Amino acid sequence: MRRPLIAGNWKMNGDAAEADALFRALAAVRPGGADLVVCPPFTALAAAQQSLSDTCIQWGAQNVYPAASGAYTGEISPAMLTSLGCRWCICGHSERRQLLGETDDFIRRKVRAVLDAGMMPILCVGETADERRGGRTASVVQREVEEGLRDAAADEAARLVVAYEPVWAIGAGQAATAAEAQEVCGWIRECLFRLFGQDAASSARILYGGSVGQGNIADFLSEPDIDGALIGGASLRADEFISIYDTAKA
Ligand code: 13P
Repeated sequence: MRRPLIAGNWKMNGDAAEADALFRALAAVRPGGADLVVCPPFTALAAAQQSLSDTCIQWGAQNVYPAASGAYTGEISPAMLTSLGCRWCICGHSERRQLLGETDDFIRRKVRAVLDAGMMPILCVGETADERRGGRTASVVQREVEEGLRDAAADEAARLVVAYEPVWAIGAGQAATAAEAQEVCGWIRECLFRLFGQDAASSARILYGGSVGQGNIADFLSEPDIDGALIGGASLRADEFISIYDTAKA
């Protein structure tokens, strides 16, 4: 049985005061049979460690640079993240693929670096509206999963999370239907099976992301291959984020 996972991606939101307020509000959450993770900006990770250490909430980063240290101005290493208690790191979010030109190869190196540091990568994959209209959803998602996980091993699968985030549903207020999301998440699990075998495919968690809120989370969670959600906008509203987590626990 896979444990449900609710992860919040704050993106570039939350200054120091806003992050503190949000952590304080989230700290009221009651633990249960699901994992809850927040990924604030780098600038709020030390505060996350301070505020959340005694709670059931885990925290992670939205990005990492795949090197141990050195002349990489502006970048953050895996060890810097683990030194702040990060257990998770988002890799290959579509905003970084599109706005910052991240390639499958670069993302593959990030996933490897995150695993090597003992953290859990959340590999984001998903097609654009054009790719969906052109019937290329399966091939795009399959390529992003295979390339992103090429250097991972079957015995690491329990630490792997793949988030299916159709680009057209992100921040759109209009999510994919649960059936649309399930179809693609099913392909992703088949892909994991081809890469790593049955045990790994059944232990890796697959999330849906894109306009998830308290109104639709239950629909996604009722699908067999959807183990949780990666949440943008609604993760900035403590009440809604906690209510989503409560649904996942139930
Ligand atoms: P929204 O929940 O705001 O659509 O964002 C989804 C997302 O990109 C999470 O990584």
